[in-house]
Amino acid sequence: MKNLTESSAWLALKEHFNEVKDVHMKDLFAEDSERFENFSVSLNDILFDYSKNRINENTMALLFDLARQSHIEQWRDKMFSGEAINITEKRSVLHTALRNRSSQSVNVDNQDVMPKVKSVLKQMRAFSDQVRSGQWRGYNGHRIKSVVNIGIGGSDLGPHVICDALKSYAQHDLNAYFVSNVDSSHLLETLKQIDPETTLFIIASKTFTTQETMLNAFSARKWFLDQVGDEKAIEKHFVAVTTNIELATEFGINKANTFAFWDWVGGRYSLWSAIGLTIAVYLGMDHFEALLEGADEMDQHFQDVPLEENIPVIMALLGVWYNNFFAAKSYAVIPYSQYLDRLPAFLQQLDMESNGKTVDRNGQRVNYQTGPIIWGQAGTNGQHAFFQLIHQGSQLIPTDFLIPALSHQALSTHHRVLFSNCLAQTKALMLGKNHAEVLAEMKQQGIDEQTIENILPHRVFEGNKPSNTIVFERLTPKTLGSILAMYEHKVFVQGIIWNINSFDQWGVEYGKVLAGQILVDLSQEAKVDNHDSSTNGLINHRNNIYYNGREETTLD
Ligand code: F6P
Repeated sequence: MKNLTESSAWLALKEHFNEVKDVHMKDLFAEDSERFENFSVSLNDILFDYSKNRINENTMALLFDLARQSHIEQWRDKMFSGEAINITEKRSVLHTALRNRSSQSVNVDNQDVMPKVKSVLKQMRAFSDQVRSGQWRGYNGHRIKSVVNIGIGGSDLGPHVICDALKSYAQHDLNAYFVSNVDSSHLLETLKQIDPETTLFIIASKTFTTQETMLNAFSARKWFLDQVGDEKAIEKHFVAVTTNIELATEFGINKANTFAFWDWVGGRYSLWSAIGLTIAVYLGMDHFEALLEGADEMDQHFQDVPLEENIPVIMALLGVWYNNFFAAKSYAVIPYSQYLDRLPAFLQQLDMESNGKTVDRNGQRVNYQTGPIIWGQAGTNGQHAFFQLIHQGSQLIPTDFLIPALSHQALSTHHRVLFSNCLAQTKALMLGKNHAEVLAEMKQQGIDEQTIENILPHRVFEGNKPSNTIVFERLTPKTLGSILAMYEHKVFVQGIIWNINSFDQWGVEYGKVLAGQILVDLSQEAKVDNHDSSTNGLINHRNNIYYNGREETTLD
């Protein structure tokens, strides 16, 4: 295959970009009264409006050519059928099997994985029902009131975004906490809020070796034993979710209280597996299964619908358009829903750990930009923080706006105000306000000539800033499942176009190894000189402070 940037589809897009790069969206809207109808797609209660993008029909046709040239459909089918498309780790990529609601088998190495998937779902239902009904009791007969998920990365972000987003579905007498950071303040501040007698710790780790998670788990176990004093009590208060059952049992967790998943589930795609146990306990297994159903519906849409109407494919292609032709470096995601405040954090791992690569599937360095920087925060808060830069800054930042049509909460005026703000932002970003418009406005306000001359340039908005608007009826478990799966497939499609392996994360591994070496140097007083001078200097500076009598509060 030709290099991506020399391919016919790419070259055609490049030429097209030169023709349309200065076209203003407000003219495109003026020319086509049906632009919204022409550039929006729906799936169930989700409406995806992409009309406020710097595209015309020809742009989309060329982008679909690029998708076809990249064999998106073939790669998609390889993923769903269990082919080992994670080439560097020789693994299948089958998080879609975890939410397969059909009776179809899914094979890995000629073995159907669906019986295992269903059996763990059954185990999760039995366990979560017991905890929620109060049948599962702590060591001295109390009901569980607090669930603490100890995990990091994919073993934290997915369950965390979902438990926050769907809080209004939670059982009123249960609280969910998430401890991920190895900074002891994360654990200690959580422990202050809970009682060992009524707490269930869920140790979530694919490998059961991740340094942060294991240290937090051991410290939580020590805190528990210091108060309870009986090792036997652990089995009522600690359960594990892992692919490494052996290490979990070594930690002291009863094998019956371990929940399995498999190496064909990537960490950042694992919330659909038993890693979702905290979700099942906090929100109930019916809601967890509704989440799976929503994701499955998006999977079917992704598989069955032609590329031209396929939401994740369109999202991915628009991302490529801005990333590679307009040289946009980042991508903002703004949920107009406080419940979705953690969505950008979840998407950061999903997108940046997947597509933050510079070597293609053939081991060659790429000569084009790959994954963008993902960032964002809930609206309207973001409007009072960074929106200025999106409106008038020097960078082009394509943005996704997400908003439910209906709120779960009373105070309907708030939701109307929220909705108006969301649409006002997308409209302002698209339209902008030109010199003549600002001048007319200032004159109408009776502002004197001199002030107009001084201030006018500052009040001009170029506009032409692209955005997608995703409106869904309500933030339900099913809809949330569909939205998260939509982003997963978007990231997948972009990885295929950029010809990279979206399923490994070697860059993260390197940092882990170096941290281990530096830890040795931080654990002894002697001056070090075995690193670069900055790292040596920083280690010696910290050791000077630490070993010269400053006290630390520790659990041990
Ligand atoms: O950040 C690297 C990573 O390997 C992620 O992919 C994963 O989600 C996270 O660490 C946690 O790993 P584990 O679930 O094995 O503790």
